[in-house]
Amino acid sequence: MSLLEIKNIKKSFGDLDVLHNISLSVEEGEVVSILGPSGSGKSTLLRCATLLETMDGGSLSYDGMYACSDEGAGSVYTSKNELKKIKNTFGLVFQNFNLFPHWSVLKNVIDPPLTIQKRNREEVINEARELLKKVGLADKEESFPGQLSGGQQQRVAIARALAMKPKMLFFDEPTSALDPEITAGILKVLRQLAEEKMTMVIVTHEIAFARNVSDRVIFMDGGYIIEEGKPEAVIDNPSNDRTRAFLQKF
Ligand SMILES: Nc1ncnc2c1ncn2[C@@H]1O[C@H](COP(=O)(O)OP(=O)(O)OP(=O)(O)O)[C@@H](O)[C@H]1O
Ligand SMILES: [Mg+2]
Repeated sequence: MSLLEIKNIKKSFGDLDVLHNISLSVEEGEVVSILGPSGSGKSTLLRCATLLETMDGGSLSYDGMYACSDEGAGSVYTSKNELKKIKNTFGLVFQNFNLFPHWSVLKNVIDPPLTIQKRNREEVINEARELLKKVGLADKEESFPGQLSGGQQQRVAIARALAMKPKMLFFDEPTSALDPEITAGILKVLRQLAEEKMTMVIVTHEIAFARNVSDRVIFMDGGYIIEEGKPEAVIDNPSNDRTRAFLQKF
């Protein structure tokens, strides 16, 4: 059983078919990078997988728990309670950090485990401090997001996602709002998580990073998975013309 299993997902916005019958499974400990041109459906795929969008067709499960199934008449979602449980399985980090500006760094990190998971406050605070140390922000717990650089804010967002103890993390272009120098710091944190065998799905334009860190690379175009395989195969030796054309721009 795969940790994440998406089968035949279909998604349209009005007349626009954005995802066509995409299937994707991710095993525990696997790092999967998703590449592809703007508008190819990468974010939509992530938003469907993380239950921020409903899919029109296909099934989605985490650890064998079905968020939605499809018996032929489109995606049918399970109960709110079940979905709540499933949402505890994964975390999500966006391009724009989405921190609460009027909360300190520490409060941003401890709030989800306290309010959503109702965990012990002292334990959560201790873990949050460890996580902030891990992402290189041990001395910033009292700061407010506006007092931090973009890269530091992104590291807080990663610590916040980790504070929920997810089995798996999704990243949607975690470095595309950042300068190259700051990007390197974030990629280092992601590489460390990969070494610790955190399961991750990362939408990124950092081709070198995807090549070095991923177990598998997926190339999307026009709402289809066009090519998929080991990073050396997809990135150094793409078999599809569209993948080749896309990679040549980097
Ligand atoms: N909420 C929405 N309503 C209508 N159309 C949408 C919506 N979200 C996405 N789309 C459309 O779906 C298509 C895929 O968008 P998506 O954001 O998934 O692409 P992407 O691969 O993430 O692109 P980028 O690399 O620019 O982030 C685009 O044509 C986009 O305009
Ligand atoms: Mg996107």
